[in-house]
Amino acid sequence: MRLDKFLSNSGFGSRKDVKQLIKKKLVTVNDKIVTKSDLNINPLTDSIRYDNELIEYKEFHYFLLNKPKGYLSATEDNKQNTVLDLLPEYSYLNLFPVGRLDKDTTGTLLITDDGQLAHSLLSPKRHVDKIYIATLDKDIPPSIIKTFEEGIILDNELTLPAKLEIISSNVGKVTLHQGKYHQVKRMFSSFGLEVIELDRIQFSFLTVNDLPLGKYRELTKEEIEELLKYKR
Ligand code: URA
Repeated sequence: MRLDKFLSNSGFGSRKDVKQLIKKKLVTVNDKIVTKSDLNINPLTDSIRYDNELIEYKEFHYFLLNKPKGYLSATEDNKQNTVLDLLPEYSYLNLFPVGRLDKDTTGTLLITDDGQLAHSLLSPKRHVDKIYIATLDKDIPPSIIKTFEEGIILDNELTLPAKLEIISSNVGKVTLHQGKYHQVKRMFSSFGLEVIELDRIQFSFLTVNDLPLGKYRELTKEEIEELLKYKR
């Protein structure tokens, strides 16, 4: 791997930024100052230091975002803001959101550059739990709890069993094990109910908890290890 790519992936900015750091003789490879940014290094066996600090190699990056309203779950758009605009410090990485939350949906969204993990997490076979708090325009009839459990026809197929708990008269907690387009909205809509607020409070075991809307954090080592089990 090229030294500049390694440094960029490790959080030292764009390739252009890291070129400057290398020029300033702040980078060593196996204790030797290097000046060539295209130097080939082995991230697993070479010891690379910046200002004498050993750099831990990260092949992939994992962030948890508390998505606010008004942002598209996409990597780019000509006119509208995307969730990646909320992580401007990492614009040099090839990040993308894992799955989609609607523009007006808030909450837990995993952002990564690990394509294989994203693919595994989104696989319909995987049944990753997703938990939502939905506020409806009317009171929720308790009778629909059973229908959520039994399944509803969407896109000509029966949805997997979903759990609906009534939190207050027009607020429900919905646990899904799949992710069809507008699924929560369409499930309620089949009973004449309109979702007026939708917040995803959990994706797999990940929750945004104290993270304010619009803010993100890097996943902990433990969380990454747990997530990577999905890759196997
Ligand atoms: N279901 C929806 O209807 N919208 C979302 O954003 C997520 C799940």
